[in-house]
Amino acid sequence: MVNIALPKGRLGEKVYDLFEASGYACPSIRENSRKLIFENESAGVRFFWVKPSDVAIYVERGAADLGVAGKDILLEYAPQVYELLDLHMGNCRMAVASKRGFRDNPDKTLRVATKFTNIAKKYYGDQCRDIDIIHLNGSIELAPILGLSDVIVDIVETGTTLKENDLVAYETIVPISARLISNKAGYQFKYAEISAIVTALKGQVNPG
Ligand code: PRP
Repeated sequence: MVNIALPKGRLGEKVYDLFEASGYACPSIRENSRKLIFENESAGVRFFWVKPSDVAIYVERGAADLGVAGKDILLEYAPQVYELLDLHMGNCRMAVASKRGFRDNPDKTLRVATKFTNIAKKYYGDQCRDIDIIHLNGSIELAPILGLSDVIVDIVETGTTLKENDLVAYETIVPISARLISNKAGYQFKYAEISAIVTALKGQVNPG
């Protein structure tokens, strides 16, 4: 059996569609239930629904052989996993945003609010920019509005959240998409099965 951690939610459902189209269906997963584990013995796969930010933990520790995680999580936590395939789904970008009209003064410490503290530290560290990191867990857009920070480092997908809060994205740090990841030992032990899955998924991925 290859154990696969799927990110719970809208992206996870699209990812499951991709597995299904690739010949790894598990029809019971479509039934509306609170079950978290689904198995297709003949296809040799077992799927779990996992909180998206936890997928890499399951894979790194070997509770799952494969998983699907956003590049944002992989950059932020640098889990010891193999990144096997860009699924070209869940496309968005990590960006710096601020209130409209904000002018950065390079002589002053920049106050940066974010969930992604490692990504932000690396981005500004590479520019030798002095920053004060403010770690928040959500609704990051509030920080510059309330004067808690000068800028935010956050995910921008459609841009609606920024627009509706009168913020503007003025630098893109990195494009983000969903990636297929593998446990390192599992990749060796289940090489044939995992390779077959990767080949089948590649045939269905649409790079757009
Ligand atoms: C993410 C991100 C932005 C929003 C961007 O938040 O932090 O707030 O999506 O999407 P948009 O550009 O399409 O508006 P999420 O919904 O994950 O909630 P959060 O506030 O808990 O981070």
